[in-house]
This record gives sequence, structure tokens and C-alpha cells, in this order.
Amino acid sequence: MRCRFPFISSIILLALAQGSCGGSGPTELDRSAGSELRQPMLAEDIDPDPDVVHVQLSAAPLVVEFEPGVPTELWAYNGVFPGPLIEAKQDDRIIVDLVNNLPEPTTIHWHGVRLSNANDGTPVTQDPVPPGGSFTYDFTVPDASLFWYHPHANSAEQVYRGLYGPLLVHGDDPLPAADERVLVLSDLELSGGQLVLPWADGVQQMENAMGYLGNTQLVNGQLMPELKVRSGGLERWRVVNASGSRYYNLALPGHVLTMVGTDGGLIESPVEYSEFLLAPGERADLLVATDGSDGDSTVLINASYSIMHAAGFMPDPDHPLMQLRYSGSVNGLDRSIPAQLATITEPVVDAGEFSLQFSAALDPQPMDIIAGTVDEDAPINFASFAINGRPWPDAAEHVSQLGTTERWTLNNHTVMDHPFHLHGYRFLVESGTDGGPAYRGWKDTVNVHGSELGDHLLDILIPFEDNPGNWLYHCHILRHAELGMMAELVVNP
Ligand code: C2O
Ligand code: CU
Repeated sequence: MRCRFPFISSIILLALAQGSCGGSGPTELDRSAGSELRQPMLAEDIDPDPDVVHVQLSAAPLVVEFEPGVPTELWAYNGVFPGPLIEAKQDDRIIVDLVNNLPEPTTIHWHGVRLSNANDGTPVTQDPVPPGGSFTYDFTVPDASLFWYHPHANSAEQVYRGLYGPLLVHGDDPLPAADERVLVLSDLELSGGQLVLPWADGVQQMENAMGYLGNTQLVNGQLMPELKVRSGGLERWRVVNASGSRYYNLALPGHVLTMVGTDGGLIESPVEYSEFLLAPGERADLLVATDGSDGDSTVLINASYSIMHAAGFMPDPDHPLMQLRYSGSVNGLDRSIPAQLATITEPVVDAGEFSLQFSAALDPQPMDIIAGTVDEDAPINFASFAINGRPWPDAAEHVSQLGTTERWTLNNHTVMDHPFHLHGYRFLVESGTDGGPAYRGWKDTVNVHGSELGDHLLDILIPFEDNPGNWLYHCHILRHAELGMMAELVVNP
């Protein structure tokens, strides 16, 4: 495990103080082989119209057992964890009746969907639904991709407790037929089967810095499930990172992960990866040619990655996620992936440029701690996580005009990565300090790397094509958003 300290940062001091360098090892809950991978339960469509998907979602406490006989209380939709899979076709109308059976107010945000503003599920579009209350969302889905849903009220805690589910919108695509799976990645901190609530005794500084990283990494709510694959087959994985904090750096030894789609649908041309990084909130459409022999097995891992890598700090070791077992074979399957998957036309910037800075000012200042002028045991206040220096809800709103395209420069002033998420619109990544993006595709969430040497920049192009209204943008490490790294965009009609 690499652990070096090339420069001084209070984050590192904190990590040292808490003995976190090197991270937590595998927990007693790890298993070499678990039960067969389940697909998320399909939400029942109660409307017979083929172009309308009408589902009911009840949010309520749920007791599950990750270990036989050891109950764990989560919060979940419709009594399943993760929440049910909502399936629709491109341009369908989706109606969702939310009933809140939680002990606190909630909402549902349809992450990545370009929808009408009133259905966005945020504090700038609706009052949270009180316990016992209900709310109906009604919108159309213009893009074919994997989206997901989660609360936007007390969201760091509510998502951590288990409130999230996938929304898969099907469209025409030129891909070969494949065995398709939805994979919802998330994590929980379990101790003896009990869900540990990081905020129970007041939020600790490491939780503020890193978000809530759980010791138990799950695929579709399962610990180390097993997926049977066929020799000579083709797998298509629709993956969402539903963790409020954890990054997934996916690797499948002996196999190539071919990315064909991202948040907003198919990318222009396929790109091959040996490790594929998925930040919180992002989705990926991955093809995997399964060329092992009958009886072989391999493990999908979350390979070591640190959001503090700019500080040379790697707290997150490799972690096994899912066992693949070869069982049976198929011959002569056409697995050729077209060189062009989609046409993505770059929008022309015809409105202002907007520069947006992520900052995490600390109090007391790191240099004062190092110089010893401040008691080293004094609590460090992270409350000033901010965008453009002003923490939500005091952040200045940005005003844009419907029908224009803007270039936003995302500027990370901190040593840690932040996944930037914009509600209601999609964007193209134009260029960045690291060079251009490896693929062209529509995004709603993108990782902005931390930097030790200066600001890390990423330019994105946003066409404000439709849906005027009040939208949020924020870091998708949900604790960071809650601490202030969130702001409002007003798109005028
Ligand atoms: Cu997935 Cu504002 O969030
Ligand atoms: Cu962040």
C-alpha cells in the first residue's frame, strides 16, 4: 500500500491523526462466493398504455439480512434494496406516485433526466414530502440511457441509508445482442450487521472530508454475488455508482471493459479500458467479451483509487465486488462493435462563459496547525465547502437564457476530487488540464480531479435546450453538497 506525504495538507494530518492511511482491510462480511447476482426488482407499471409507465414508490424503513440472522435496518423503496428498476422507452411518459413512510421528509430526484423543472425533486422545485404525505412526479424521458433516482432532502443520509434505484430508458442502438445486466454499486458501513450511522455522535472530520465510505461494497445490494457468464459470450453492463461518496475503479483481470455509453447515452465511438473509473452519480454502459473457458472464474474488483490522489494519499485498497464464473459456452456469436455508435454534434457557444470554483476552506488554517499556533486537537471546521466561495444556500445564483449554449470552466481548488453534477441539462466535456476527454458523450456528472500544484480545470459545454426553471449543480459527494458545495442555476424562458 502506497502512502506518501509529498506536501503538507491538513487532510493528511487528519488522516494520520485518525490512523486512516492504508484504509480498512476486508471485513468479516467478505465472502469468496455469494449468491447468484439478482437483477433489481422491476417496478410494476400500472398503466396499460404502452407509452406511459406509471409506478408507485413507497419510501420506508426495511430490515434486511446481509448475514443470516443478523438484521440490518435500511431505508428503501417498495421494500427492496436497491430500489426497483423502472424501465421505459425513449420519449415515454413516466408517472411516479411517491408515498413517504419514512420518519422524516423526503423527495425524489431523477438524476440525469432532462425533465420539466417541477419534477426535479429538489428544495428549489418543491417542498419536501412530509412523513405520511405523497407527491406525484410526471415527466417524459427524452434520452435513452441508464439514469437513477434518489432523495434530494437530507440526501447524504437518506442515500447512505439505502434510498436509490435505477431508471433504464431503452432506445435504438447499433450494438450486438448481449446478456444485459443492471449493476447498482453502493456501499454501507456495517458493524456486526448493524448499519453504522457516521453522524450518530456528531459528524467526524474524516466523514466530512471523504464522505461516508462504507466497509461493505455491494452490487445490487448483494455482498460479492456470483454472475454466471458463457464462454464466447458478450455481457452488457449498465452500471450506476449510487454511493454518496465512494469511487469505483472497475477492473476485471483478463478482460477488457469496452465503454459504449455514458450518463446520457451512447458515446461516439467505443473506448477500451483495463480500469474504468466511475465517480459517484456517474453511469457507464460497458461491454465485456467473455472468452474464458468453462469452469474458469474471475473477480470484478474495485481497484485502489483515492480521491486524495493529488495528495499521494490512497486510503482505499482493492476490493472484490463480484465473482464471475464461466458456465457453458456459446459459439459463433457476432460480437463486433460498430466503430461509430452515435453522432454527437458539438454545440456552439453563443452565450457567456462561467467559471466555477470548488473550494474547501478550513478553519483553523492548516499552516497554523503545523506551526503549532493552534491546538492540534482543536476541531477542524469544514463547513465552508463551497462553490465560488459561498456555501449553499448562500451561493449566488447563476442566470442563463434558454436557447443558448455556455462554456463553464470547472475549477478545483482542493486536493481532493469532486464529481460535478448538473441537474436538468446535459453537457459535453470539451477539454481539461489532463488533456481532452477519452470519449465523446453526453454527461450530467463528471469527475474534477484534485490538484496539488494549482487549479485543475475542466471546460464543459452546456446547451440550454429546453426546460427553463430553477436547477441545482453540486458535488455528488453528498456530504460535500450538504456542507455547501452546491449552487443554483436559473434558466430564464
Ligand atoms: Cu444525484 Cu443533485 O443529485
Ligand atoms: Cu466534493
